[in-house]
Amino acid sequence: MNIELTTDGLTAVPADLLAVGIRAGDPAKDATVRELDRALGGALSKLLADEDFKGKLGESVVMHTTGRIKAGRVLVYGLGKDKPGANEARALATRAAAVGRSLATVAVLAPSVTPEAVQSAAEGLTLGGYRFTRYLTGERKPKRQTSKGLVVVHGKPKGDLKRSLERGRAVADAMNLVRDLVNSPPNDLHPVALADAAKKAAGEAGVTCKIWDKKEIQKQNMHLLLAVNRGSGIEPRFVHLSYVPKGAKKGLRKVVFVGKGLTFDSGGLCIKPAKSMIDMKCDMAGAAVTIAVVVAAAKLKLPIEVHGLIASTENMPGPDAYRPGDVFPSLDGKSVEIINTDAEGRLVLADALAFARKLEPDYVIDHATLTGACMVALGPWTAGLFANDDGLAKRYLAASTAAGEQVWRMPLVEDLRETLKSDVADLKHTGEQYGGAITAALFLREFVGDSKWAHMDIAGPAFLERSHGIYPKGGTGFGVLTALHFLEALAR
Ligand code: BES
Ligand code: MN
Ligand code: ZN
Repeated sequence: MNIELTTDGLTAVPADLLAVGIRAGDPAKDATVRELDRALGGALSKLLADEDFKGKLGESVVMHTTGRIKAGRVLVYGLGKDKPGANEARALATRAAAVGRSLATVAVLAPSVTPEAVQSAAEGLTLGGYRFTRYLTGERKPKRQTSKGLVVVHGKPKGDLKRSLERGRAVADAMNLVRDLVNSPPNDLHPVALADAAKKAAGEAGVTCKIWDKKEIQKQNMHLLLAVNRGSGIEPRFVHLSYVPKGAKKGLRKVVFVGKGLTFDSGGLCIKPAKSMIDMKCDMAGAAVTIAVVVAAAKLKLPIEVHGLIASTENMPGPDAYRPGDVFPSLDGKSVEIINTDAEGRLVLADALAFARKLEPDYVIDHATLTGACMVALGPWTAGLFANDDGLAKRYLAASTAAGEQVWRMPLVEDLRETLKSDVADLKHTGEQYGGAITAALFLREFVGDSKWAHMDIAGPAFLERSHGIYPKGGTGFGVLTALHFLEALAR
């Protein structure tokens, strides 16, 4: 989709659908509604009254304009009672693009004319039209899709809004890349294919990409990643993406993102029941977020050194699968006793986090669909944030609020650490039943040394059963917006 700016008046916007947002209250008193209503002979306010439209956040009504204004349809969207900011602009544009997904041109009136609002509107236009259609054939294959988006700006614009459009595109493309990767079936998107996808995305953005195959991973002593891989017929991959800004000055910040890249999690020998296994292609969402964030950082030319590390394998119960009771060394040196082979994510992350330390970063941030327990605690729409540094936690939470993503800080309860004590090795890799998201995080913490580290458990929001807010059903791209807001704030 091509996205352009226009300053056309509301009745002159050349689009198949024109979306406008209005704040909560009496719609008949809203200036935008009144302006449209004059041209539409009162039909819009009548429809809004008939539908009892109050402008609550997310409410929407669509009307055909039967040629009375240039736009073929008008979509009126409730922005809620607060002054609309960038997140409301994104939500409005997302709805517009979703409703108008088979129309050629979709326009959205920016609720404010700040660079942030215009960027978010461009993001929404790109996000809302997202569909995963690669495997559809014949009648199921969509014939039409939106080819042009318009962001209508009224009032005195501040800043370089054309640049805002480009930035919005880069951010939304990153999120849609995550969605594509997460939605891809696990027979096609195996670890080798995931590494290739990382390389391709990196190449398009001028990001360096190093891929280690099984032989190299063995040479590098990532024995926990290799342990998880034993039951799979496909090789593991370890991917290192790096973006170093051009003409890098001394004193530049360095952030390393780490992603769990389980292209399929059957549970291994401790096999999952069928119902729990069905969506386990999503278990590489953390890796996909990691790829997308590094690539977007490069496209946005952020003045920060950003690395991405991905530990990728399947977790399968093949004949050489790792067993409960096995003991393996980690890259870090600590030995680990395997308890439940379905707790594989923390193992591959342990080696990746130990590797991250060697890059001497200011911050290490991992993303992982790590525990069902985190979903039990927070529900499907909120990520759990664990951090060993209060300053970093504060920054990350602030970024999530600015980005409009729901993130809740979880405690690293010290008393639970003793449940990871093993009789035969330095550590067991799972604790007891209760507090499962916390013991998983405590296990990870053993491998980060004194790095300032944050862990995002995205088991809930990475993949949804039904759409919610700006997130579609299936892969969502959750985490990208927060990570990019975090990096932007760090650059300021
Ligand atoms: N990939 C799962 C966690 C998960 C569950 C992600 C549901 C998305 C949706 C993870 O590898 C896992 O199986 N965790 C176990 C850990 C347990 C065996 C200690 C879990 O949460 O049950
Ligand atoms: Mn598992
Ligand atoms: Zn898993």
